[in-house]
Amino acid sequence: MSEHVKVSVEDGVMRIRLARPEKKNALTNAMYGALDDALRRAESDRAVRVVLFEAEGDAFTSGNDLGDFAAVAAGTLARADMRSASFLQALAHGKKPYVAAVQGLAVGIGVTMLMHFDLVYVADDAKLSTPFVNLAVVPEAASSWLIPARIGHARAFEMFTLGEPMDGRTAASIGLVNAALPAGEVLAKALEVARKLATKPAGALQATKQLMRNGEAIAAVMAREGEIFGARLHSAEAAEALKAFTERRAPDFSKLNS
Ligand code: COA
Repeated sequence: MSEHVKVSVEDGVMRIRLARPEKKNALTNAMYGALDDALRRAESDRAVRVVLFEAEGDAFTSGNDLGDFAAVAAGTLARADMRSASFLQALAHGKKPYVAAVQGLAVGIGVTMLMHFDLVYVADDAKLSTPFVNLAVVPEAASSWLIPARIGHARAFEMFTLGEPMDGRTAASIGLVNAALPAGEVLAKALEVARKLATKPAGALQATKQLMRNGEAIAAVMAREGEIFGARLHSAEAAEALKAFTERRAPDFSKLNS
């Protein structure tokens, strides 16, 4: 349970809404837990035929809560207790179709989670970024495989290493997401499509999704990334990156070699 994740079901659509706008919907461990629970419920609840992700405020999500990353780095939060891995496993193995409505910022896992969605609508002026290297960590959520598979190595490497935001229009034009729309129309479009999918034959829909996704292979990539990500969080580089965020300054990696 988390007050920052709201879940409702209507007309066959489970709506999962991120509701921590004052922190740009940064995802805490409790929020991952709520998202994980919702996805697992969606799989077993016959009333749910489609899952729609949406978010309150001017950001979809600024990614993992950096306070939680700092807690893992400091040893006060065990990585084994992080629900993000379980949430990602649920995403990777989900059989029901996932639709997303993305406005404003989507950072880190805010982008990589979208690679597990089946239909993604973004605002023209959304800003999608995966600044893993800037934070001295590595891509996660199987994105080291799934993003290059969608947009090619060159663009994916640029996204991961330079970490600069890509606008929604560009993301749609290169096939990272389905379509870019004016911000005020994104949720309505995603909801309309989710409702339309909910009227389709659920068995055929789910079988089609399963044919198009190899959950086991995705999970294996996630596991490999997760090991490296966990080790990187304990690096001096990550300590500097996280400290710099807290102190609202640019990090200085010049004296660090690994
Ligand atoms: N974790 C924890 N808190 C976060 C956060 C995150 N990922 N992203 C934003 N916040 C918090 C800020 O600390 C701030 O809190 P405060 O009001 O108590 O100071 C609040 O949300 C608003 O963010 P702010 O930085 O003031 O907004 P902005 O519009 O200037 O910048 C971002 C927004 C997303 C560009 C910036 O917050 C940022 O770079 N966040 C980190 C993103 C990131 O690296 N995520 C992990 C990727 S792996």
